[in-house]
Amino acid sequence: MIHTFAALADLGQEIANTGDFEEMLRASFHLLLGSLAIRRGAVAEYDRERGQIRFVAARGLGQSQNIALPLDHDHARELASLGSSLSLEDATGEAQRFLEDNKTLLASVEIDLLVPLVVRERLIGVVLLGEKASAEKFIEEDLPVISALSRHIGVGIHSHRLLEEVESKADENRQLYDGLRTIYKETVRAFAAAIDIKDRYTQGHSVRVGKYSEIIAREMGWPDEQVEGITIAGYLHDIGKLIVDLSVINSPERFSAKESKEMSKHPAAGYEILAPISHPYADIPLMARYHHERIDGNGYPDGLKGDQIPPGAKIVTLADSFDAMTTDRPYRKKLPLEDVFEDFRANTGTQFEPAVVCAFCRAFLKEIEGTSKEKRLIRLLGKNYDNVESLSPLLSQLISDLDGGAMVATATTH
Ligand SMILES: [Fe+2]
Repeated sequence: MIHTFAALADLGQEIANTGDFEEMLRASFHLLLGSLAIRRGAVAEYDRERGQIRFVAARGLGQSQNIALPLDHDHARELASLGSSLSLEDATGEAQRFLEDNKTLLASVEIDLLVPLVVRERLIGVVLLGEKASAEKFIEEDLPVISALSRHIGVGIHSHRLLEEVESKADENRQLYDGLRTIYKETVRAFAAAIDIKDRYTQGHSVRVGKYSEIIAREMGWPDEQVEGITIAGYLHDIGKLIVDLSVINSPERFSAKESKEMSKHPAAGYEILAPISHPYADIPLMARYHHERIDGNGYPDGLKGDQIPPGAKIVTLADSFDAMTTDRPYRKKLPLEDVFEDFRANTGTQFEPAVVCAFCRAFLKEIEGTSKEKRLIRLLGKNYDNVESLSPLLSQLISDLDGGAMVATATTH
């Protein structure tokens, strides 16, 4: 009995150690064999889908270790209902049929005892035991010991399966989620393209704003998830233009007061379009709503100030302005980059958030100086701008002014 208890305790340890399932099974099975000095035997797992019993751990069976015995559902259910260990000699009913069906195989491995492993009334597998080292027959007292140890093994197999099932479900969910995200992103890209087609003067504007926003957020050290979100927000920031009259959007001149009023509805309209959608990223509708706000409170639609404006909206604002200034409009040509950054300088602290301008300048400077591997900004600007290298001193100066907080102080005291 002491021996059995020791084996049970060890078995508990083995099963709790979930590291390597097959190893756990082998170790547990050897404990079972060892506790009664049994010479040979096997643990077989019942594979419901394939309708077979497959050996997973064996000892003393020589070549016959990789055995799979057919067992259909009905037979498995009946075998499970038989419960405790069954000697081959006096097996009845389903056990007998099972043994008969596999007589040749079982005879070849010299098995005397069959123990169905049953958890929650379902067959998990079987333990097959051969003769004892002493060549003595199994006695009545051996059976509870074998049952107790086998039950542990059955529970071990069952828990392992549950774990595998949970993992595969989690995997499946992850794949579904990734799939949904891809669909979402593709839909967003399609929307961005639709917005840009409507506005023939700003081809590719939304996509570029998305990419500029991404570059700024990354430079500001935002986590990946939020960088993805801001990219999407950039793609969608002008979605409200879908409700603005085509003739206004494509007006070849500067907007009249009436047209401006019509046009200024687009951030709030964008919010209305985006708000009912459940986005996989936070605040997308708000970033669309507030991309024309200014930190001095003179923007629209809500006239928010400073910290009232979500950080993401401030990024999209700058990205939007940068693209507007670096592309031709019907009423003016694109500006030289020097003028663009002078505009940034002049409007930081009033229209633009200093930290955002600073991050944009840093990202640009890194590309010019070759410290960043990719040249995404330079590529997005395309061939329309050459000689970007000459911007280096201007950017450095702007960064140092912004870092020193000089411009913020100027901005807030006026
Ligand atoms: Fe806009």
